[in-house]
Amino acid sequence: MRIEGCCISWLLAWTLLGCQSPSVHPLPQGHVKGLVPQPQRVEQPDNEVDGRGMRCDGQLQLFWPQEWDVVAATDWMESAGWSWNRTEDVSQADVAWTLVEQNLGLEGYTLTVSEDRVDMTSNDAEGAFRAWTTLRQLMPAVCEQGCPSGFTLPAIHVEDHAYLAHRGLLLDCCRHFMAPEFVKEIIDVLALQKMNVLHWHLTEDQGWRLPVKAYPKLTEVGGFRKEADGSVHGGFYTREDIRSILEHAAERHVTVIPEIELPGHCRAALAAYPWLGCTGDSLDVPCNWGVFKDVYCAGNDSTLAFMKTVLDEVCEMFPSEIIHIGGDEVPKVRWAQCAKCQSKIRLLGLRDEAELQTHFIQEMGAHLASKGRRIMGWDEILEGGLPQGAMVQSWRGMEGALEATHLGTDAVVSPTSHCYLDYPLRSTDLKEVYHFVPVPEAALDQPGSIVGGECNMWTERAPQNEVMAKVFPRATGLAEVLWSGPQVTQKEGAYANFLDRLDGLGQHWAFMGVEPGLEGVPVSLEISPSSQGALQIAVLPALRKAGGMVHFAKDGDRVQSCKVGESMTIQGMGVVEVDVMMRGRATGVTETFPVAGHLAAHQPLSLGHDPSASYTGGGAQALADGRRGSQDFRDGAWQAVQGDNMAVTVDLGEVKSLRSLHAQLYLYQDAWIFLPEQVLWSTSMDGVAFDLVGQSLDDMSSLEPDSRQKTVAIDLPLEGRKARYVSMELVNPGVCPSWHDAATEPTWMFVDEFVVLGDLEGLD
Ligand code: ACM
Ligand code: ZN
Repeated sequence: MRIEGCCISWLLAWTLLGCQSPSVHPLPQGHVKGLVPQPQRVEQPDNEVDGRGMRCDGQLQLFWPQEWDVVAATDWMESAGWSWNRTEDVSQADVAWTLVEQNLGLEGYTLTVSEDRVDMTSNDAEGAFRAWTTLRQLMPAVCEQGCPSGFTLPAIHVEDHAYLAHRGLLLDCCRHFMAPEFVKEIIDVLALQKMNVLHWHLTEDQGWRLPVKAYPKLTEVGGFRKEADGSVHGGFYTREDIRSILEHAAERHVTVIPEIELPGHCRAALAAYPWLGCTGDSLDVPCNWGVFKDVYCAGNDSTLAFMKTVLDEVCEMFPSEIIHIGGDEVPKVRWAQCAKCQSKIRLLGLRDEAELQTHFIQEMGAHLASKGRRIMGWDEILEGGLPQGAMVQSWRGMEGALEATHLGTDAVVSPTSHCYLDYPLRSTDLKEVYHFVPVPEAALDQPGSIVGGECNMWTERAPQNEVMAKVFPRATGLAEVLWSGPQVTQKEGAYANFLDRLDGLGQHWAFMGVEPGLEGVPVSLEISPSSQGALQIAVLPALRKAGGMVHFAKDGDRVQSCKVGESMTIQGMGVVEVDVMMRGRATGVTETFPVAGHLAAHQPLSLGHDPSASYTGGGAQALADGRRGSQDFRDGAWQAVQGDNMAVTVDLGEVKSLRSLHAQLYLYQDAWIFLPEQVLWSTSMDGVAFDLVGQSLDDMSSLEPDSRQKTVAIDLPLEGRKARYVSMELVNPGVCPSWHDAATEPTWMFVDEFVVLGDLEGLD
């Protein structure tokens, strides 16, 4: 119900009757707080008439064409405190929707708030729903007790449409199971920011979540795994769960695309039905992460028949035209050793196992095509030749998308460089996501098109309670990239503008119970040399409104403190801990930076290896810069090489009395990261003649299977030995051993810092 206003306002008159507005101008982007993604065109009266708009209270009269289903558009209103009625008389309406013929673009709509009505137009219900999300963002998040004092909707005219058609989030509900209600909450947040695809990852090595009537053990056995600590993790969706989630999504104009992984990432299925694999071996549902060599047997006709039955049931449950069939990360070792696979290769005249994979996917694609569906697969499906009609999802960079569009098919982009939300903020922050260019020039004027993008939320390291904060606000950055397009996101000042509008959207999230994560790493550590053996450290804010207290902790005790923005001098090995505050309030986040003030830090250093360009550890001085590695081998502090030895020598400047040498190594065999076969430590007085003073790891067999992912600290006591030069050599253990999924591939070694403690630094 309107509180006041009975005449046709200036803006409505201007819009509907073609009158000239007294003064209307396009606003700088983002003037309207809370409007995310930024509409293509926003006009408001200028400052002289600011404050104009429509006065409303907690009762709204809605008008819409009879045939439209407005459940989703209105259901949030009641929970937010509004009551509404449908009126058949447009002149009585507070909010009126009209269908128009004039083409408004992809999911296009207009929205005009005048003094006495909100008018929305669209070409269809989808456009109307997008208009409704814009209106919701303009309204207060909540109308408490019927908002007795009312509120003003700002006078505004919006013309809007989508830049790209496919705007999605991949949600991996396999590595960690997510409750149906949680999946619906995710859909709600996606819909509010005009995303329209939930790419639902339902089958994996570590868990099968899809109900299949013909093969009940897929969920009964494949839905559960025993964790390393003996506990059981698992769950699966019933057909009723899926029906209810799909209904919820459809009401919000979100398409759910199921992903049924084949022919790899299927250990859970093999655990349920071992005959699906090449060896027939009995396997468990694994509780570790990585790429497994046991995949579906592509030479066994029964396996193909199984897969078709599964896909038949998928088609019964999911109306989406697109069915994602995975296709990524399929080791070919089992197929190379399997009589059935080899016989199929010969029978079909295929060149190799890559073509066998294409054949497998081709068969599934044809089967789905016969049911009016279309397959989408990760960019590996291009490797043996593009399966007919398949859409490609490019994740290993943008090359897959470029090749796909060149070959004349559609592509969706979600490169690891910008779209992987399982990556920590230090790898991919909101700003990076926001600056993503989903359609590079090379993809223009090709026979196929890039039709959209997704961000990918893989959940190996994210149980349900951590997912929301990982997805948002980064997925909101991608929503603007894909809806508003580069004409908005690539403009100067666009990101700051986006952040300003995001603050307004936060009120709606708070009402919805959504707690977003930080936009990026909140603080940065600056290290500079101090007197030899000590470091000057300063922690600086890296996000707007970030602050907090900085502590230097040794063996868990905080021994020194200062504020963010100040500096302090530290000595010896320890951890800089920052209790992060945002806008002056504690966040509960503690950022940690392992450091060491030691004799070799910032001294001249020479390397006997070429660090990997992906893991330099921070440059030429990385192994003696005072920064040690964390539990995350991608934190930027670790230096690595693949398939070679590593060696570092440091000149301490003068002869010193040494107490001990230290370093950290990384162990993560699933990622091909092994411990060195040996670590050799040497010292020298003149830099020419070196004495071997000790070795580490010689009691460990570094190529034995070890499922842990961890740092391994090594050290050597020197008890006052005198030396000017110190050196450390890491001996590479060779290729991945025969038991490993990447057997014969060169191993990686990671090391963080060559710490040299003198008598002074060791004593605390
Ligand atoms: C993927 O991230 N393996 C598609
Ligand atoms: Zn086989």
